[in-house]
Amino acid sequence: MSEPVIFILEPKLRRDVTTISIVGLGPVGLCSGVAFATQGHRVLAVDIDPKRREQIARGKPPFYEKGIEAALQKVLRQKRFSVVETMEEAIGPSAVVFLCVGTPSRPDGSMDDSALRDASKSLAEAWQDGKRRTVVVKSTVLPGTADGLVRPILEAAKVPFRLGVNPEFLREGRALEDALRPDRIVLGADVPETARILKGLYRSAKCPIFSTDVKTAEAVKYATNAFLATKVAFADELANLCDAFGISYDEVHKGLGLDPRVNPRFLVPGVGFGGSCFPKDVRALVAAGRRRGVEPLLLEGVLAQNEVQYLRSIAKLEEELGDLRGKRIALLGLAFKGDTDDVRETRAVPIARTLLSKGALVVGYDPLAGPAFARLVPEVKIVGSAKEALARADGAILQADWPAFSRLTPKDFVTSMATPVVVDGRRILDPKKMRGVRFHRIG
Ligand code: UDX
Repeated sequence: MSEPVIFILEPKLRRDVTTISIVGLGPVGLCSGVAFATQGHRVLAVDIDPKRREQIARGKPPFYEKGIEAALQKVLRQKRFSVVETMEEAIGPSAVVFLCVGTPSRPDGSMDDSALRDASKSLAEAWQDGKRRTVVVKSTVLPGTADGLVRPILEAAKVPFRLGVNPEFLREGRALEDALRPDRIVLGADVPETARILKGLYRSAKCPIFSTDVKTAEAVKYATNAFLATKVAFADELANLCDAFGISYDEVHKGLGLDPRVNPRFLVPGVGFGGSCFPKDVRALVAAGRRRGVEPLLLEGVLAQNEVQYLRSIAKLEEELGDLRGKRIALLGLAFKGDTDDVRETRAVPIARTLLSKGALVVGYDPLAGPAFARLVPEVKIVGSAKEALARADGAILQADWPAFSRLTPKDFVTSMATPVVVDGRRILDPKKMRGVRFHRIG
């Protein structure tokens, strides 16, 4: 009785399922791969780091991302997602290869494309079967990189390829959710067939799909991150000005956000932005602009503003406590934001270093990022809870918007701290409820 059913289902399944290779298993590669597998595709994933491959193959992601562990284990069990050892195995049966390797900053701020170059070379060498594949750059790359770096490597190897760019817009901590339910998809394609293939991969997406050329898709990613970073820097600067005028940022923000051209979202001021994307992408755009004869004055200003914004939180402590020498300061939140264990470009580093240089004793706590932060600033004493960090502290700075911190009550501060001086660097606590606390925010 069951045979006719299989006969009916099989062709449909075959038509819709694509075998996809994922090259690079950082948060972007892993979450994108798991999302494709969850949506029914077959994913073969590879990374040059054997330890990372081994952990992921066991269902243990090497970093924290909400929901990823369970989702990974599910697609591993279903055999829709496999970690393989070599590029040959990764691309063997696949029709589409996603390059998801990192593009970090060089010391001069420019984009380091060496991982992408290596991955492209390794792909070209492994591609011996003459099969036509679509190569998609998901790594964040400056306009012209896919055509100027990936294309020549594949052309020199004489492999039959199509080339696409599909930037990711994944927020750390919510990367799987964003990969499963994107609010937009940007596809850059060399030829219409590439766009058709990529649209097929995202057939279940219920969001706008914007299809354009390769270079424009690369640019859209930088434009987005540069604009969002500018919004944060603007909010920070506006909040500083509100402080100077003695008015509430909240009220100004409410009035400002009523203008539909502005949009109230992503305008939370505080200690500045960090993370693996905004600082690196804005720096790369500035460096690339300068090389091409454009002085990106606004974006330079965004970086310069962000570089010093954290000092405001320390100035507020000093207003209350005077000289910080010998003072015990609790630093709550060490990751660059809440819901992640990522400490890349976290503002907790300059905050801690400045406090230490002023002679303070810094006690830090983060639900996940303690060990990683301790490697960056070993002089900070890392403790196991917010309560321990606050115990006997003369002052506290909330640096990351962990949900658990938003549940802190005045009692938590007043009963634990030597003096309840609190600077909320992420605007997560309600000042009206902070009775008995010498409470400050930026703006
Ligand atoms: C960002 C983009 O949102 C994402 O689309 C892109 O692909 C990668 O970069 P992410 O770095 O994970 O994601 O974090 P995000 O939530 O955007 O915050 C970036 C930084 O800005 C954090 O340090 C955050 O605390 C700060 N921020 C954000 C503010 O200070 N105020 C805000 O209103 C928003």
